[in-house]
Amino acid sequence: MNLELLTKLTQTFGPSGYEEEIREVLRAEVVAFADEVRVDPLGSLVVRRRGKEGGKKILLAAHMDEIGLMATYVDEKGFVRFTSIGGVRPTNCVGGRARFADGTLGAIAVEWREDATTTPALEHLYLDVGATGREDCPVKVGDPAVFVGPLEARGRRLISKALDDRIGCYVLLEVLRQLPETPHDIYFVFSTQEEITLAGARTTAFRIDPDMAIAVDVTVTGDTPKSLPMDVALGKGPAIKVKDRGMIAHPLVRDLLVAAAEKAASPYQMEILLYGSTDASAMQLVRAGVPSGCLSVPSRFVHSPSEMVDGDDVENSVRVLLAALPLA
Ligand code: CO
Ligand code: ZN
Repeated sequence: MNLELLTKLTQTFGPSGYEEEIREVLRAEVVAFADEVRVDPLGSLVVRRRGKEGGKKILLAAHMDEIGLMATYVDEKGFVRFTSIGGVRPTNCVGGRARFADGTLGAIAVEWREDATTTPALEHLYLDVGATGREDCPVKVGDPAVFVGPLEARGRRLISKALDDRIGCYVLLEVLRQLPETPHDIYFVFSTQEEITLAGARTTAFRIDPDMAIAVDVTVTGDTPKSLPMDVALGKGPAIKVKDRGMIAHPLVRDLLVAAAEKAASPYQMEILLYGSTDASAMQLVRAGVPSGCLSVPSRFVHSPSEMVDGDDVENSVRVLLAALPLA
């Protein structure tokens, strides 16, 4: 694992709709390996590797946006109220920190409540950025922020904010770097706004009009205390999606990924995700329909400042995709 690269990817600011900084970081990583690089109107970074005459068009997508917070109101004492960008749970916020695009740091706190045994709602939380009033508050209504959560490795385990889905971006970068001559046209899409509307992948897939689309994203696991019953565990290989809240994976893609995992001699798991979805659910619906599926990196504590993945799962995801592309 290239921890220096993963640190850069996870720590760069990029909540949904504000992907400029992370896009420039990714662009710098891809240029040397691309036949073509472009940015679509909604901000997706599209990297093309040209195949041979008569090859297929295959789209690989990882979203570069992350969940975040957005300031909704600054009170007379300078405290900042906020709403969510994407799936932000109050229990993952309190006691944590958020950082705005200009570097402003806020402590996330909760109001005093009569009954502190219940879970607070987002409206009961606020940010203290060190201001004393509206006038000296550096945060304005509409400013976006992200969780603070540095990357650290503990053995093979990696802990950071935004592994959803910068780990997918990392996997795509590795596949791009290691991909030899290919019979197919491969489009590496670093999509925008996955966490709110899937807008980036949906529109980019429409333009590319691929024969097949594969999202690379995280999925949750069933291996933590009182987790949902789910047959996906950290460190037991990439998960091949069968079904989630938004789609049934196309059998063509699902079976291709299974065949690729076997060819690569990689461990793998079959994923049925009860809550949540990915770019694949939107990409399958463009034009007349695109056979779509998903290769998932198992992750604990998804949408918290301390998401956790296993380095072996990451490296095996790269190997499975490299094995899948020539089989498509
Ligand atoms: Co997510
Ligand atoms: Zn994701």
